[in-house]
Amino acid sequence: MPNLIESLRACFAGKLLTEAAEMAPFLTDWRKMWTGAALAVVQPDTARDVAQVLAWCHANSVPVVPQGGSTGMSGGSVPESSRAGVQLPILLSLTRLNKVRSVDPQNNTMVVEAGVTLQAVQDAAREAGRLFPLSLAAEGTCTIGGNLASNAGGVQVLRYGNARELCLGLEVVTPGGELWDGLRTLRKDNTGYDLRDLYIGSEGTLGVITAAVLKLFPLPAAQAICLAAVPSTREALSLLNLAQSRVGAALTAFEVLTDTCMELVIDHVPGTRRPVTEASPWYVLLELSITGQPEQAEAQAAQMMEDLLGAAMETGWVTDAAISANLAQFEALWAIRENISESQAAVGKTIKHDIALPVSRIPDFLESTDAAIAQAFPQVRQVVFGHLGDGNLHYNASPQPGMGGAEHAAAFLALEGPLNKLVHDAVHAFGGSISAEHGLGVLRRDESARFKSPLELKLMRNIKQALDPKGLMNPGKLLPQD
Ligand code: FAD
Ligand code: MLT
Ligand code: ZN
Repeated sequence: MPNLIESLRACFAGKLLTEAAEMAPFLTDWRKMWTGAALAVVQPDTARDVAQVLAWCHANSVPVVPQGGSTGMSGGSVPESSRAGVQLPILLSLTRLNKVRSVDPQNNTMVVEAGVTLQAVQDAAREAGRLFPLSLAAEGTCTIGGNLASNAGGVQVLRYGNARELCLGLEVVTPGGELWDGLRTLRKDNTGYDLRDLYIGSEGTLGVITAAVLKLFPLPAAQAICLAAVPSTREALSLLNLAQSRVGAALTAFEVLTDTCMELVIDHVPGTRRPVTEASPWYVLLELSITGQPEQAEAQAAQMMEDLLGAAMETGWVTDAAISANLAQFEALWAIRENISESQAAVGKTIKHDIALPVSRIPDFLESTDAAIAQAFPQVRQVVFGHLGDGNLHYNASPQPGMGGAEHAAAFLALEGPLNKLVHDAVHAFGGSISAEHGLGVLRRDESARFKSPLELKLMRNIKQALDPKGLMNPGKLLPQD
């Protein structure tokens, strides 16, 4: 090991951390669920640097764990805990690859490096008079490379698609240290296997994304948001269908949360209050975005929202609603939704289920699975919210109030296996997926094998073998262990 470190120092002086204290922040994930060890943290400045690091790793048979903002929810961005006799990896931090290389408003594209934060990407697009629509609560910290490597979703998927749909081209360093320039700015390119699509969602197991071509859209001229109280997800679903048929593409977000989530945010985010008079079992956060002339768009968006809610109230689907009248109210309503994860983290360990279901089956799924959990796991407080418009729920669990202290953490986490089994079996029975947007990482790596055919697993392993024959890229992630 000293030889390897000396060799690293000789090659990457000024880009290397080797002291335990300086490496520590890179080795534990956002949820504080996984901590690993690394030979060193390497912080390259350019794609060429990345290529050199990977060539060095290849020559010395040292594994590599790519990392962006390390906000991933599945443990993909930190090394697995070390095992005797297994070579420690390099932790490759991409955050210094932070340049917006170019913006082409007429082509509606921009080229950005992997370490640019999602928020900086959105800001650069806005400065050019365009919208980059990927949006999620971690946007100030997560990077576009991490978003693409995990095919992130977020709150605008309903209208604009997942990260995959927002990317036209990639620049990637292969595990052998070669730099592939696939930065095509084309909306049509039908020239064989789509390598871009292979790398997107591969969670750092096939290569390192160093830059990407992103799709841009017109900026909305006006937006309106409401928080609507609904009795259950059945009424929420009726509201979704009504909104889709009435306003079509102007519907840009359709999120749901339970009153448990609302209370968690009220308890943990100072200044938050319930925007409607009475507590309701469920709330919908519905956003409309209108293009066109700003003077008319503002009034048009407000009118659309009022008409929609008026119709939904007449049928009893919506029992009460708060509509944003200005930017401050718009942001305050969004803040309730965006602070759920942090507020849930404040009440103890969490067990997360990032599930996708056919949207029409969600009410029945919840009815039967909620009851099964209440009966089998009375120690669990369900914290359910998510992107109903995409059929994606964060069907999460926390300890019951008063049981979130560190002394109860081990007993709570011991429920994870049996609770996962109950939830994931139900998801499968309803035709769903056990990972909608957070990926497999280490969290769902082995569980995913229960739901994939041997053929699908074999094809995935063949791809890994072809692109990373030495098995150096992000070992132990995504692919189920044999
Ligand atoms: P990291 O966590 O650093 O890495 C994620 C994975 O990608 C790892 O496997 C890593 O090895 C790999 N990777 C990172 N960079 C590269 C690269 N350049 N090349 C190759 N591989 C790479 N996710 C959603 O999808 N939707 C949400 O709504 C959402 N909300 C969130 C809210 C909060 C408060 C938090 C903390 C997280 C949320 N997430 C959400 C999860 C997370 O933010 C996203 O998955 C995000 O895309 C991860 O980006 P990152 O830069 O932090 O990646
Ligand atoms: C979100 O949508 O806020 C996150 O993806 C969910 C989570 O924290 O489980
Ligand atoms: Zn989410």
